[in-house]
Amino acid sequence: MTPFVKCSGLSKWYGGVCALRDVSVEFGRGPEIVGLVGDNGAGKSTLIKILSGAHRADEGQISIEGRQVNMRTPRDAMNAGIETIYQYTAMVPAMSIARNIFIGRELTIGRKIAGVGLLDQKAMDRIAVDALSKVDLHLRSPRTPVQELSGGERQGVAIARAVHFRSRMLILDEPTNHLSVKETNKVLDFVVQLRAQGISSIFISHNLNHVYPISDRIVVMARGEKMADVERNETSVAELTRMIV
Ligand SMILES: Nc1ncnc2c1ncn2[C@@H]1O[C@H](COP(=O)(O)OP(=O)(O)OP(=O)(O)O)[C@@H](O)[C@H]1O
Ligand SMILES: [Mg+2]
Repeated sequence: MTPFVKCSGLSKWYGGVCALRDVSVEFGRGPEIVGLVGDNGAGKSTLIKILSGAHRADEGQISIEGRQVNMRTPRDAMNAGIETIYQYTAMVPAMSIARNIFIGRELTIGRKIAGVGLLDQKAMDRIAVDALSKVDLHLRSPRTPVQELSGGERQGVAIARAVHFRSRMLILDEPTNHLSVKETNKVLDFVVQLRAQGISSIFISHNLNHVYPISDRIVVMARGEKMADVERNETSVAELTRMIV
């Protein structure tokens, strides 16, 4: 079957540094969770920045559902159904939960004048509460500023956003850094729940004990290259550890 995303021969240089070298990889062969692992500087974030439209590859192609795409901005990636969660940058802390869910896709009332409309705050609040409850997150009020939430709750809000906008694929770059054990487990549970709803994930973490149990497949990177691409049940944490170091 056609994978949701297919990368062919992606390379990326930052000045003289080759961050990504001829990487070909597929994601979303049916709803699946792919763990993306590797040591510091292996090229993981570079790969996902290209997939999320934040950076452009110097060489290679990306296809989504079999069609070659040219993603120039994060908005292009979002429109294609790819939502990315970084630990700190995904939210505007001073804005409410509801506003963060609708960031860049705000609902407005009536006719827009010069592209600007009156925000439909009530509708956004209502939908936000509904979206949060779908990922089993029951927060006090959709008007709560995101800066008052814990790290795990923030990840939950970002996941609710992906679910609400029917993203096809969620990319999580080190989502469990700085989270408590309980919050980490909640994020891991969310990712598994999303797969049951047909949403694939790419999950980057340094902690193999987080990635391994939830992944269907693991991709190992080192020095900008793809070193391994294995089904979870054909490898082990010990073997992956040896490949990474
Ligand atoms: N904006 C940039 N400018 C210059 N070099 C960069 C830039 N971003 C990344 N690099 C370099 O590219 C290589 C790959 O970095 P990348 O961030 O993709 O690694 P990573 O696998 O995500 O590492 P980590 O696990 O530490 O997050 C590294 O050598 C890094 O120094
Ligand atoms: Mg990184």
